[in-house]
Amino acid sequence: MKQNKKSKPFMHEIMFPFRGNWNLIWVIQRYFKSSLSGITMQKLWNAIIAFVEMITGKAIVQSKPFVLRLEPTNICNLRCPRCSCGINTDPRKKGYIKLEDFRNILEENKRNTIILRLDGDGEPTLHPQIIEIIAIAKSFGLAVSMSTNLNTQISKDANGIIRSGLDRLIVPIDGITQISHEKYRVGGDLAQVKKNLINILNTKKQLGHKKPYVEVQFLDWGYNHDEIPLLRSEVRMLGVDKLEVITPDWAVTNKKANRHKPRRCFWLWSVLTIDWETNYHSCTNAWTLPWPRLNFKDISSNSFWNSDLMVEARRFNVNKFSKTISTDSGCHCNSCSDMLVINRPPNYVCE
Ligand SMILES: C[S@@+](CC[C@H](N)C(=O)[O-])C[C@H]1O[C@@H](n2cnc3c(N)ncnc32)[C@H](O)[C@@H]1O
Ligand code: SF4
Ligand code: SF4
Repeated sequence: MKQNKKSKPFMHEIMFPFRGNWNLIWVIQRYFKSSLSGITMQKLWNAIIAFVEMITGKAIVQSKPFVLRLEPTNICNLRCPRCSCGINTDPRKKGYIKLEDFRNILEENKRNTIILRLDGDGEPTLHPQIIEIIAIAKSFGLAVSMSTNLNTQISKDANGIIRSGLDRLIVPIDGITQISHEKYRVGGDLAQVKKNLINILNTKKQLGHKKPYVEVQFLDWGYNHDEIPLLRSEVRMLGVDKLEVITPDWAVTNKKANRHKPRRCFWLWSVLTIDWETNYHSCTNAWTLPWPRLNFKDISSNSFWNSDLMVEARRFNVNKFSKTISTDSGCHCNSCSDMLVINRPPNYVCE
């Protein structure tokens, strides 16, 4: 009995090591297939160590991040009302990552990175060299995944997108009529998105390519909920690999924050997050915040990963004992609703 009581929380950490209800099986089924091209035995071993270090809450780690989140640009053509880029509350300068910086980041992280996720607080296909960027990442042996509104000029270049070697393409649609689509994707043109999507699916077939794995993402805001069955049959007919329905705040809506025992944070142990100006960030939920105020050009990724600030952030995530983190208003970890440090605020905006 005693043992059961002890082992339950540990098993819980293993099964639910991600935010809210995001469990291990869900994450594996979502990402595994499109990550295969980035896996080597060395990287897999590193990922296993990272995972164990995350579950056991080690602050100074032996492992390196196995996911790289890179922001090609923080510019967007749409104005989604619950995205900090869409409503223009991102205080950073606008711009595009330089190819040289991109290459340098990859060179340093290629031995440990399995997946590169190529989107930040902006629309990646607005970067004029995005296709070249994907191809470069592929030449470094990474699996590349990108979420795009598919409503840009480059999105029309199906041939280029497929030949780049992209592994996973996520296309948020959020509505089957123009009215419901543009309720969230403000400024979006559903007919154009569909045209670009069909073009990509047809070209993929013609070229006989298995990749990219195409996922249509549907943010279920309630007003569009009844459209899901119709969208499901529509995308199935088109040859989309998966329809992923996401209730935007689902990960934390039903959970009460516990300041003293937040969720263990996947990002702090596994994901290296860098913006278009090569500034490090804690995660993809904090593009607009300055923490850790360090840049790749001044500190290597390896040194950053076990820097005092990262170690403090991990400590804070485990037990809250970090004055540095708890008093820093530029750090999101002390007010993170994703990790249930605080309850989800009503004015929550995605980054
Ligand atoms: C900030 S976007 C950047 C990439 C691209 N512009 C896009 O929209 O796909 C990154 C991801 O966040 C998703 N997203 C946008 N608003 C969201 C929200 N309020 N809650 C959850 N996810 C959201 C997008 O659908 C996309 O998959
Ligand atoms: S969610 Fe994507 S498409 Fe919408 S405003 Fe934000 S960056 Fe642009
Ligand atoms: S803000 Fe900090 S605790 Fe929250 S998800 Fe990001 S890295 Fe993790």
